[in-house]
Amino acid sequence: MLSFAALAAGLSVSAQSTGLSSQCTSALAQIALNSSTACIAPSTLIPIITASANTSIVGPVDSWLTNVCQVAPCSNDTLAAIVTNVTSGCGTELSALGFSSSDTATLISTVQEFYPTVRQVACLEDGNTNCVAETLTNLQDAVGNLSLTNIASLVASGNTTSLPSNVTCSNCVKAAYNTVNTAFPGLLDSENSTLQGECGTSFTDGSTPSGIVESASGSSSSDSNSASSTVSQSSFLGLGISAFLIFGSALTI
Ligand SMILES: *[C@@H]1O[C@H](CO)[C@@H](O)[C@H](O)[C@H]1NC(C)=O
Ligand SMILES: *[C@@H]1O[C@H](CO)[C@@H](O)[C@H](O)[C@H]1NC(C)=O
Ligand SMILES: *[C@@H]1O[C@H](CO)[C@@H](O)[C@H](O)[C@H]1NC(C)=O
Ligand SMILES: *[C@@H]1O[C@H](CO)[C@@H](O)[C@H](O)[C@H]1NC(C)=O
Ligand SMILES: *[C@@H]1O[C@H](CO)[C@@H](O)[C@H](O)[C@H]1NC(C)=O
Ligand SMILES: *[C@@H]1O[C@H](CO)[C@@H](O)[C@H](O)[C@H]1NC(C)=O
Ligand SMILES: *[C@@H]1O[C@H](CO)[C@@H](O)[C@H](O)[C@H]1NC(C)=O
Ligand SMILES: *[C@@H]1O[C@H](CO)[C@@H](O)[C@H](O)[C@H]1NC(C)=O
Repeated sequence: MLSFAALAAGLSVSAQSTGLSSQCTSALAQIALNSSTACIAPSTLIPIITASANTSIVGPVDSWLTNVCQVAPCSNDTLAAIVTNVTSGCGTELSALGFSSSDTATLISTVQEFYPTVRQVACLEDGNTNCVAETLTNLQDAVGNLSLTNIASLVASGNTTSLPSNVTCSNCVKAAYNTVNTAFPGLLDSENSTLQGECGTSFTDGSTPSGIVESASGSSSSDSNSASSTVSQSSFLGLGISAFLIFGSALTI
């Protein structure tokens, strides 16, 4: 069993490289230890947050998603508690990203709204391979190690336009596009012609690519008292990961 002290100590080691405040570190430890947050698989999330700056996070992300997709999704109440605790504990870090604590209520409902779709996308599989991990591996082959440092600089450069088509036009990305487009019709309209240009018109025809399956546990639309997402959770639990997620979704969408 993890203890708060052990976890806080582990997180503060990473805080030295990531620059997280002790207040933020403590909030993350509280979240990881609260039994209601099993839905975000904290024990496999921590290695991502605590990864050393130059190490690839693709392997840890793959392990985390495998775990997250197997457990029941978070309830809206749990999502609200996580966002509340992160925004209050990590206010300093978030304000550096332009977030103000007066935005918390909006953030909670945004997270709750997108969580089920983000979780569905995060749990797509190509055969037995998680689609996000597969895409990150392909991306890593194209742009170099996806370490927290490199991700931050890739995001800062905003250079996602020139990705090779064998990264962008995969069955996994097509399935992710379909999933988002089904849940939020119109959201991706501006990407339609870009993707058609790079990947061909069949890429946006809405048909399910062969070999792609949904692995999320308990994510059917009839599951009325839970919603789920891995991407939104990680956005708040790890600032480094949130960079990766923004980058990932920028290229995926
Ligand atoms: C939120 O913070 C409170 C106060 O520190 C703590 O008791 C609670 O367990 C935390 N909840 C979650 C989900 O992190
Ligand atoms: C990461 O790599 C950069 C540049 O390659 C180097 O300056 C830095 O010391 C490395 N950091 C760690 C923790 O290895
Ligand atoms: C890339 O990541 C691997 C595994 O994390 C590491 O062993 C290697 O040194 C990294 N390469 C560079 C150039 O930083
Ligand atoms: C878990 O978090 C919730 C919401 O913050 C809180 O009400 C509950 O008391 C916490 N449970 C434990 C065991 O800390
Ligand atoms: C994409 O193409 C590049 C260059 O042709 C190649 O090195 C890389 O392995 C390819 N990646 C995939 C996933 O096929
Ligand atoms: C953008 O990324 C591509 C590889 O994906 C690279 O070849 C190109 O130099 C980058 N452009 C800038 C301005 O960094
Ligand atoms: C993309 O455009 C094609 C026609 O150009 C249209 O049939 C398709 O429905 C569009 N897809 C989305 C998601 O808007
Ligand atoms: C969760 O909250 C969102 C927005 O706050 C709402 O649209 C959704 O229906 C809620 N889900 C459940 C299962 O109550």
